[in-house]
Amino acid sequence: MKLFRKLLTSSVLVTSLVAATVVSINGAMAAGGGAELEHFTPVRTDKALQRGAKVFVNYCMGCHTADYHRYSHFARDAGLSDEAVVNNLIFTTDSEGETNKIGSLMASNMSKEYGKEAFGAVPPNLALTARSRGVDWLYTYMKSFYLDESRPLGANNVVYPNVGMPHVLADLQGWQQLEHKTDDEGHEINVLRPLTAGTLSPEEYDDTITDLVSFLDYLGDPNREARHSLGIKVMLFLFLFLIVAIMLKKEYWKDIPHNH
Ligand code: HEC
Repeated sequence: MKLFRKLLTSSVLVTSLVAATVVSINGAMAAGGGAELEHFTPVRTDKALQRGAKVFVNYCMGCHTADYHRYSHFARDAGLSDEAVVNNLIFTTDSEGETNKIGSLMASNMSKEYGKEAFGAVPPNLALTARSRGVDWLYTYMKSFYLDESRPLGANNVVYPNVGMPHVLADLQGWQQLEHKTDDEGHEINVLRPLTAGTLSPEEYDDTITDLVSFLDYLGDPNREARHSLGIKVMLFLFLFLIVAIMLKKEYWKDIPHNH
């Protein structure tokens, strides 16, 4: 019994140590780039996914691909009919120039070679970026473009300095300007100030980025909801089974005298 207790205590200790290390490594990785990240919680509703997908196909898929996904799966997951997706969300074409079908992969038409030549870097596949960078990073990144005439495409980003991507949502957000300030403790901090207005108000722009990053989060883990609800059911089953097992054990041993 003593040995068992010792084993139990040490395994609990090891598990918590491992958990603490994983959490701190995650935190350190997410903070990369030196800029403060805003905290973001993705919204997993049909409407948010539909709006996010609309921004994605209109403003991102010209350069970025998400070809681990099919339009048909997205239709099912966002509560849309195939027809609605074909009419409103499919603008990409196949190698023969035919508009993609509902079963096609969400692939961009831009070639890697062109991307490298035009932007100095190939626009990466965004299907898993919500997992590699984290949603806080993505949300802050999409709000951190600023005017910088010294860059080839006139834009820079506080979260991803000297990024090759232009500010593709400048029409919506307007332009921001970078200012250096010193805080109360004398540290230099970067502040973004609005320079020109876009077609959206700051609140509307935040809502648009919320939908967009929620969509990117969906791309990174489309089945999260199903997995979580299955997990809860499995735990519930195991718990009920434990009660049955305890009752059964009592039943088996009840006629056997103790301490003999
Ligand atoms: C005109 C082409 C173009 C468009 C349109 C575009 N991007 Fe990009 N994007 C790029 C390029 C090029 C890079 C790579 C930049 C680099 O590595 O310097 C990039 C990088 C990124 C990254 C960084 C990924 C990583 O892990 O390093 C994210 C996130 C991103 N884009 C999101 C978006 C989103 C969201 C949209 C739509 C709102 C979008 N992009 C539209 C060209 C584009």
